[in-house]
Amino acid sequence: MRIYRAKDYEEMSRRAAGIVSAQIIMKPDCVLGLATGSTPIGLYKQLIEWYRNGDLDFSAVRTVNLDEYKGISRENDQSYYYFMHQNLFDHVNIPAENTHLPDGMEPDSEKECGRYEELIRSMGSVDLQLLGIGHNGHIGFNEPSDVFDKQVHCVNLTQSTIEANKRFFASAEDVPRQAYTMGIQTIMRSKKILIMANGEGKADIIRDSFFGPITPKVPASVLQLHNDVTLVADEAALSKI
Ligand code: GLP
Repeated sequence: MRIYRAKDYEEMSRRAAGIVSAQIIMKPDCVLGLATGSTPIGLYKQLIEWYRNGDLDFSAVRTVNLDEYKGISRENDQSYYYFMHQNLFDHVNIPAENTHLPDGMEPDSEKECGRYEELIRSMGSVDLQLLGIGHNGHIGFNEPSDVFDKQVHCVNLTQSTIEANKRFFASAEDVPRQAYTMGIQTIMRSKKILIMANGEGKADIIRDSFFGPITPKVPASVLQLHNDVTLVADEAALSKI
């Protein structure tokens, strides 16, 4: 695993954006696995800036997102569909048909998970998967568990994730209780993984994930078994290693 230590959020975002743009330049029709959350917003801003300067072309790039809340529509400003359009897709020249997220409005979990897993497989390997990390070590929405969940599946969000995400909703009651997410196996099939973390609040989980035992109780710890992982984090998130 490579670790890049950035001095702050801005530097972390630029570093990570550099890795994503290198991927796009090396392979213009690459498949990017994308993530939501507050962590990658600066990276997306940087990519938009480089696109506007004429340094990046998204016309052949294809994307698959990690996850989506179940039961909220695309128009809901808390849906990950909305987030991705707001923070990236609406600002670059990526064709709409090249971008993919789970359909949060499909009530039949088995049907939607099967469809999304099949779609990802049909695109070939994800060339570069971007990840954030939850305070409990979740990646995508793979919550701590007794087993590593394999493929795309529907999860019940843990209380700690509902608590962490309630800042985006009117109240904790409004946070959806379930989500569709790529599974650990889906994520581990990616050729390269880029994980980002910032802030002191992530320091414990970064230490536990990358320097502790590999266990489904800390889902991100499975990344120790992947052969091409880059962690880009600020000093605060790396302060306990
Ligand atoms: C959500 C997302 C994750 C993300 C995590 C951390 O639960 N499903 O993909 O990594 O939050 O969010 P943040 O980057 O805001 O700390």
